[in-house]
Amino acid sequence: MAEVIITPTRDAAGALVADHIASLIAAQPETVLGLATGSTPEPVYRALPGALAGIDVSRVRGFALDEYVGLDPAHPESYRSVITREVVEPLGLTPALVRVPDGAGPDIARAADAYEEAIAAAGGVDLQILGIGTDGHIGFNEPGSSFASRTRVKTLTEQTRADNARFFAHPDDVPHHTVTQGLGTILEARHLVLLAFGAAKASAIAAALEGPLTARVPGSAVQLHPHVTVVVDEEAAADLEFADYYRFAYRNKPDWQGL
Ligand code: F6R
Repeated sequence: MAEVIITPTRDAAGALVADHIASLIAAQPETVLGLATGSTPEPVYRALPGALAGIDVSRVRGFALDEYVGLDPAHPESYRSVITREVVEPLGLTPALVRVPDGAGPDIARAADAYEEAIAAAGGVDLQILGIGTDGHIGFNEPGSSFASRTRVKTLTEQTRADNARFFAHPDDVPHHTVTQGLGTILEARHLVLLAFGAAKASAIAAALEGPLTARVPGSAVQLHPHVTVVVDEEAAADLEFADYYRFAYRNKPDWQGL
């Protein structure tokens, strides 16, 4: 099952994950990172420049989870812009090695297939950072998504559009569609690191980790993966039935066992 780590603050979670990513890159300079956007990974991205000090990142490769369809890549809220602003520039990654799905080109379906091919050609994702939506989505695999799905266009739920309206001038500006890695794509990453913060994520986290495996809760797909680390704050952990066990396991974790 997943290892669940409950941290006192978002910054503590960010530091924990950033330190692990830094040791991964130090040992393997061509690490392939799977990059989420949105608010959740921000503490990790904030902690990474410090954690990576003195480590060569020039060969690190990255693949974003998703991109809005029909939004100009130059728009400040396109995930291309967000990844450039929050990850590529502050970490000093090589821009050509960090890819984001193409949501603006003439043939998005073909571009989605090419994205899958590019991930495979890079040798697959070593560590995939994930957030979770209040409706249980990971990537933008909304409820009902197949566990076998690959990168493709998905329609956002009204709930997700409302959740993401804070990034746009007007709620109507939130695109209706995204191109997202599928659940099948995500499950092929070698290590999944799922983060969640705040009370609004408590029910989705509990359903994903402790509820039944169901397309109704796409995040429950992580139960199929052999190496998952979940890092949550107290608020996001509030509905976890086995929280005491997770705390007990983490307190008694052997030093030799990394994330
Ligand atoms: C973003 C993504 C989404 C978000 C989720 C949570 O690339 O794939 O699954 O992780 O919508 O969003 P935040 O973090 O903004 O609450």
